[in-house]
Amino acid sequence: MAVLVAGAWFVGDWMTDLSFSPLKLKVYSWHKWTGILVFALLIVRVGVRIAVRFNPRTEMPSHPVNRLARGTHLLLYLLLALVPLSGWLYSSAAGFTTVWFGIWPIPDLVPKDAQLKDLFRSVHDALTSVLAALVVLHLLAALKHHFIDRDRILVRMVPGLKPRKPSDPSDFVD
Ligand code: HEM
Repeated sequence: MAVLVAGAWFVGDWMTDLSFSPLKLKVYSWHKWTGILVFALLIVRVGVRIAVRFNPRTEMPSHPVNRLARGTHLLLYLLLALVPLSGWLYSSAAGFTTVWFGIWPIPDLVPKDAQLKDLFRSVHDALTSVLAALVVLHLLAALKHHFIDRDRILVRMVPGLKPRKPSDPSDFVD
């Protein structure tokens, strides 16, 4: 999901500066398909997180740093929903139905409307900036854990990097 979000972000930033051409139209479609894929994967992810309890927090859950980490995670989840949703709303209000991977038409969320289009465009733009800032904060925190605290948080974020020890203390700071 991180790779897809970063891809959608950089392509989104690049495509708006392209001059009108068949390439621009293609790139807009790729951007929308990737964004909708992120949204679909988020729904699956939230479902899995609700169904399966990962690493229950047993140590100092009210510590300010743990609270900050939880708050950042919640905000990340929220933005991962709101960024694609605002893009989808923008596309709908602009009168462009998204046809996912060129096969499945995704229902428009609102009818074509010039004012709503401008509104959702600004919202999408603003939320992508907040998402980028939060991702940078998240990365800096992960690097701090790895290089300063020297715990296993970063290793846990990269699947398959190292086998997990079942009782590692950093497992409790999730
Ligand atoms: C993880 C999901 C997404 C990310 C990170 C993302 C990110 C971005 C970024 C950074 C921009 C450029 C903003 C600017 O410089 O003005 C952009 C533009 C745009 N996005 Fe997204 N986006 C996502 C999902 C979507 C979705 C799902 C749709 C529609 C179905 C969409 C539709 C658009 C459109 C149409 C623009 C162009 C706006 C314009 O022409 O000014 N995006 N997006």
